[in-house]
Amino acid sequence: MRLDAPRLTDLELAGRRVLVRVDFNVPLSGGSITDDTRIRAALPTLRELLEAGATPVLLTHLGRPKGAVVEELRVDPVAARLGELLGSPVIKCDESVGDVAAAAIAAAPTGACVLMENVRFHPGETRGDAELSAAFAALGDSFVGDAFGAAHRDHSSVSGAARLLPSAAGHLLEAELGAFSRVLEEPERPLVAILGGAKVSDKLTVIENLLEKVDALIVGGGMAYTFLAARGVEVGSSLLEEDKFDLVRSCEARAAEVGTALMLPTDHVVASEFQEDAEAHVVESEEIPAGMLALDIGPATRDRFAELVRGAKTVVWNGPMGVFEWDAFSLGTRAVGEAVAACEGYTVVGGGDSVAALGKLGLRGAVSHVSTGGGASLELLEGKELPGVSALR
Ligand code: 3PG
Repeated sequence: MRLDAPRLTDLELAGRRVLVRVDFNVPLSGGSITDDTRIRAALPTLRELLEAGATPVLLTHLGRPKGAVVEELRVDPVAARLGELLGSPVIKCDESVGDVAAAAIAAAPTGACVLMENVRFHPGETRGDAELSAAFAALGDSFVGDAFGAAHRDHSSVSGAARLLPSAAGHLLEAELGAFSRVLEEPERPLVAILGGAKVSDKLTVIENLLEKVDALIVGGGMAYTFLAARGVEVGSSLLEEDKFDLVRSCEARAAEVGTALMLPTDHVVASEFQEDAEAHVVESEEIPAGMLALDIGPATRDRFAELVRGAKTVVWNGPMGVFEWDAFSLGTRAVGEAVAACEGYTVVGGGDSVAALGKLGLRGAVSHVSTGGGASLELLEGKELPGVSALR
């Protein structure tokens, strides 16, 4: 895995049409944008391109329209929000390739951005179709990859067009790669990773990769119970993936071999059913009574995890410790989030749920780097090369 790419300064910008793949896949409710973080994150690149006299031609996806035009997934609300944030004109084009698109770009006044329609309205986009890649590439003189959130997708507008044009990483992509490289390639130690979430199967490759790199790996959330059960601990009716027992046992064996501390919950907050209003009970031991399921880590585990995190020099966090959307089961995630925020070392938070939890706690500003990518950041933690990055080289 290489976490580097050519930079904006490597491209000719003045007077050029610069295709910029951004990730403006923002949450919408009734046609309004409910979180514009991803649009804001693209502003440094767009401002630099405008200042250098380039015409930024923006490509993005929005949702998963599956190759058909879906009216609710047109990018018009994004264009309007981007214009407000930039304070300069954003021309929205109803096509994203072909003569109409080329004409809109040619007619754009100096100082304007042109935002193309949702690239996933084309069936070829997610297949990485070569003709579509060429059609995107025909609209620009060069390509800037700044869609970190989509950089794990080998799609026409992400990697296909990049391979056909002189290319560079935008500022957001550079910042994201820099953050993960600081964790994965040259961390100050101790390096602590916190992994949570419901299913161990979603994070096994991350666990396998991180075990080799970190000093301590904290495992919380639903996935911890597959680890505990594989150790022979009674976990009641907690979420389990029994077909993963062998794999989690090999993770435990590997952790022991390389001297990585693999930390699991030793007490729990449980309930008799998976319901928001279910009565929460603290179980002070590792064993969970029959008929009960764990929905959060317990108070002693909270303290143990938080202490470890606060003392780390580098921390990476992906995934909640319990069902944090429900107040009674949110304390574990809260404790970990507060510990990450209080840590004086370098801290990176990635993945939709942990970022949402941090937002809910009002602590986004207290960590060193909040990633804009869920799937992309997981793939980096898995040690994979992202097509949207390698294509820029
Ligand atoms: C995301 O929101 O994670 C990215 O925009 C990628 O979207 P996708 O999972 O639909 O490819």
